Amino acid sequence: MTKEPLPLAGRRISGRLDIRNAVRSFSAVRAVDDVSFTAEPGRITGLIGPNGAGKTTLFNAIAGELAVDSGEITLDAERIDGLPPYKVFSRGLARTFQIPRPFAGMTVLENVMLVPARQHGERFWNTWLRPGLVAREEKANLEKARAIIEFCGLSPVEKQLAGAISGGQQKLVELARALMADPRIILLDEPGAGVNPALLDTIVDRIVELNKRGMTFLIIEHNMDFIMSLCDKVVVMAAGKVIAEGLPEQVRADRMVVDAYLGGAAA
Ligand SMILES: Nc1ncnc2c1ncn2[C@@H]1O[C@H](COP(=O)(O)OP(=O)(O)OP(=O)(O)O)[C@@H](O)[C@H]1O
Ligand SMILES: [Mg+2]
Repeated sequence: MTKEPLPLAGRRISGRLDIRNAVRSFSAVRAVDDVSFTAEPGRITGLIGPNGAGKTTLFNAIAGELAVDSGEITLDAERIDGLPPYKVFSRGLARTFQIPRPFAGMTVLENVMLVPARQHGERFWNTWLRPGLVAREEKANLEKARAIIEFCGLSPVEKQLAGAISGGQQKLVELARALMADPRIILLDEPGAGVNPALLDTIVDRIVELNKRGMTFLIIEHNMDFIMSLCDKVVVMAAGKVIAEGLPEQVRADRMVVDAYLGGAAA
């Protein structure tokens, strides 16, 4: 029996993210300073740059957690800047955090199931009036969560508290939570940071598999091997600005990138 583990196959490839002249300041610091680039649908775009370059600030602005001072951000040609995070999320943009934020006192399975997905069951009158529907939805939600957990290699720890598993496993829980939303694009903020090599391989492998099925990614990462092997295109930020953009090998050879980011140590 062939069972499709994730509801991704056959979907139209979407998730084009356009950032146009985005600016975000914190008093005197222009953390994001006139940034423009596109994350192409169906592709993996890498976002790199030294500490304080403005990468996470840009993610926060894209996800609606921070307002942009000016500029435009569109997802599949629809404006998302100015929308609150839950609306950006419901439009199909899911993100993970540099420091994972699981509900530590809940199990892995509970963390994944918590992701909102048109849950009629949360409205008590639906529970009262349409118990059959609620039960069916809960079952479907549980099956989906289990399939995603299995896909992410988390089945062995699904009953453990999310606060008690390793940092790398918490990164995978974040990925699983993102997948529950059936996103068009997933933004990952340093998925490899503090992750042991074996788990890092799992994370890379899952990203590749999802991308094969059409998922679009924008990934911040300091691990150069990770970026160079995974990304179709790399955007480099330094001091709030995009200083280079291109194929991984082009960016690696770019003198400005070497000076600003790799400190002259790149081969
Ligand atoms: N909430 C905030 N208030 C004030 N300044 C901030 C805030 N968030 C970020 N900054 C500043 O904005 C700049 C960009 O920070 P940001 O966290 O976006 O960098 P980053 O590229 O993600 O760095 P890292 O690789 O270390 O995660 C830094 O100078 C930082 O101190
Ligand atoms: Mg950051």
